[in-house]
Amino acid sequence: MSEPAKPIKVALLGCGTVGTEIVRLLTEQAPDLASRIGAPVELAGIAVRRLGKARPGVPAELLTTDAAELVTRPDVDVVVEVIGGIEPTRTWLIDALRAGKSVVTANKTLLAEHAGDLFAESDTFGGDLYFEAAVAGAIPLLRPLRESLAGDRITRVMGIVNGTTNFILSAMDETGAGYAETLEEAARLGYAEADPTADVDGYDAASKAAILASLSFHTRVTAGDVYREGISAVTPADVSAARALGRTIKLLAICERVDTPDGESVAVRVHPAMIPRTHPLAGVNGAFNAVFVEAEAAGQLMFYGQGAGGAPTASAVLGDLVAVARNLVVGGRGPRESAYADLPVRPIAQASTRYHISLDVADRAGVLAAVAAVFAEHEVSISAVRQEGRATDASLVIVTHSAPDAALRSTVDKIAGLPFVHEVVSVMRVEGEES
Ligand code: NDP
Ligand code: HSE
Repeated sequence: MSEPAKPIKVALLGCGTVGTEIVRLLTEQAPDLASRIGAPVELAGIAVRRLGKARPGVPAELLTTDAAELVTRPDVDVVVEVIGGIEPTRTWLIDALRAGKSVVTANKTLLAEHAGDLFAESDTFGGDLYFEAAVAGAIPLLRPLRESLAGDRITRVMGIVNGTTNFILSAMDETGAGYAETLEEAARLGYAEADPTADVDGYDAASKAAILASLSFHTRVTAGDVYREGISAVTPADVSAARALGRTIKLLAICERVDTPDGESVAVRVHPAMIPRTHPLAGVNGAFNAVFVEAEAAGQLMFYGQGAGGAPTASAVLGDLVAVARNLVVGGRGPRESAYADLPVRPIAQASTRYHISLDVADRAGVLAAVAAVFAEHEVSISAVRQEGRATDASLVIVTHSAPDAALRSTVDKIAGLPFVHEVVSVMRVEGEES
């Protein structure tokens, strides 16, 4: 008779929203997980900040506040990190990898800054590094990019990767309410965190965009390389202007491979944008996430599902844990960092998109012609114009063809200084349409 398989021992760092669900799923699904892996999985310890906190369903005897000791303990095979932040998490994961452990993490902030450091330790010491839950929660997205599409050439990734901001923008679109009151509602319903800055200012989406771009273009992209704008400046007027033109506003993460005469480069940006209401991303509402991937041979692919929440995120973490544990049982390795292409990252000034510009102007002869002349002077081509008179003033909406960011900014700066332009009400990018 063969020996029973040695258990895979897991150190869990963090037992909050996600960690609690990992403990629950590990416990409830233990027999199935053992069959899928070929060995049982056992929790070796759980690092938290507050030992005294009530944690129903979590074995109290496994709790510790000494994460540094836990990650290098000789009996631990895999470290699963769901604490978040950069330090001390980075140090603990580096120590774990140096001790030969495999690591599974949901920490996009850390990966968007230090994936290279972690992969280097993983390479040197042989442990795996998996992080499916770091982008778009439950949605299987990173594994398709890292593995299923490894034989293809990805050209563009565009998606909604932050549930909080998508909830807010969807609600503003549905109710016509303002940003501040919708944010309060999101907090009341538990979607927005006590400090929503990382979500509403686009930092969370920028970290995710950096991870997506790195995997898609085999290039190391960090959060600092990502152009970022949040949603706090989106007004009900923007939302209704979008609606009037058959569009809706979404916070998009866009990662593009750009071919220029100088060679290939990568452009990565996060900002609110108007998209046609007929676009598949326009129907992604509430806290859901969705990501469009375009690859040369595969064509267009769309990934959709729950981008946050304890159980959905724990599902992605456990998928990684099963992969890592299988590798330990049969002796394989997961994918390593692939940054061989090392493409330059383009500054936003060189990015080209369509724009929707809304102006409040004097309603008199020659105004439209003068505004149009400024666009022409900066070689920004106009695609559509809509004007609505209001007594002596008029609301003037101009939609451009695709234009470089720098040219558009110079155009708007000059228009803002014209004597008959009372206000530049909004400037927003338009995505998901032919240029
Ligand atoms: P929580 O804030 O709910 O939980 C964090 C956990 O980490 C808590 O158990 C906390 O301990 C513990 N912790 C914090 N600091 C320390 C420390 N210094 N030493 C030991 N333990 C510590 O976070 P979430 O579960 O929401 O998120 C965890 C990770 O998952 C983050 O990286 C997040 O970005 C990522 N993620 C989260 C998603 C979500 O929907 N929540 C979705 C996708 C990814 P204590 O319980 O004692 O306070
Ligand atoms: N705060 C994030 C969101 C959690 O709203 O999408 C998932 O990463």
